[in-house]
Amino acid sequence: MDTQQIAATVAGAGDLTALEDVRVRLLGKKGEITGMLKQLGGLAPEERAAFGAQVNALKAEAQALLDARKSELEGAAEAASLDAGWMDVTAPAPERPLGRLHPITLLLEEVIDHFTGLGFEIASGPDIEDSFHNFDALNIPKDHPARDVWDTFYTDRGEIPRTHTSSVQIRTMMNRTPPMRILAPGRVFRNETIDATHHASFHQVEGLLVDRQVSVAHLKHTLETLVDRVIGRGLKTRFRPAFYPFVEPGLDLDVSCVFCHGKGCGVCKQSGWIELIPGGLVHPNVLRACGHDPDEWQAYAFGMGFDRMVMLRYGIDDIRRLYDGRLSLVRQF
Ligand code: PHE
Repeated sequence: MDTQQIAATVAGAGDLTALEDVRVRLLGKKGEITGMLKQLGGLAPEERAAFGAQVNALKAEAQALLDARKSELEGAAEAASLDAGWMDVTAPAPERPLGRLHPITLLLEEVIDHFTGLGFEIASGPDIEDSFHNFDALNIPKDHPARDVWDTFYTDRGEIPRTHTSSVQIRTMMNRTPPMRILAPGRVFRNETIDATHHASFHQVEGLLVDRQVSVAHLKHTLETLVDRVIGRGLKTRFRPAFYPFVEPGLDLDVSCVFCHGKGCGVCKQSGWIELIPGGLVHPNVLRACGHDPDEWQAYAFGMGFDRMVMLRYGIDDIRRLYDGRLSLVRQF
């Protein structure tokens, strides 16, 4: 066996196992080169040295070839496994979408923040009311035409899905002693045909403050500050007289139209103003119905149509977008 044959055999080993077989075949105990060394004993002493040197050189060469082939095969194996398990550590991580808050919730949190800063507490009442809390105690007598204003739903048992959060005024005033300041956010229900600006189920945020010597000036200031701080700075406001049986005087707060800045457009029906928050001083009959003496205690109340506020604040032009449950809406917030 000569160097060339050895080199060819070693090169022919395609992987590490095959190479080990080659090694055993050449250099193992019964290997070919080992066998050549064993022949040494049978040689004449003068031949022995030369042959010995030759075989040893062959052995060293075989060893070197084996080593070289081994590291070559190991390198290839490593490269192959790196290739198979390759990972781009600089690649951007896959997106994990975060949940978002609904714009109604977002603005409500701001409004609650604003009012709790002014000493108001959050109050609530049931969604399904009785006629006493939704109407009677609010100075809206049975069979009075004013009841028609609210497009009331009735359940089979005669209960009323509340038409406004003003029922919480009654529940609060009957259960507490003045002075008191409460804010009552909640869902209300009306038998309305649903379109871009009307829904059969929407939100109101009721405010009520009972104290001594409460006047319209307090209400005006409270609502003007709210509009300025929460809806948007620089909006003009105006108050118009309005009728609600449970307040006297009653008024509506208008804001200059956010869409046309008062010039007149389709949204504000060319008036330049948008009706935003009804309110007034709580009617003496209502205070009395709740057990408070109107000569000692006065109150103001307001009831924001909250969906409209959300629409103005975020520029949403169709109330149905707030309720159709599409994620494309909340993903923008
Ligand atoms: N509850 C009235 C409505 O829904 C709004 C309102 C609340 C008016 C408080 C005056 C005072 O129409």
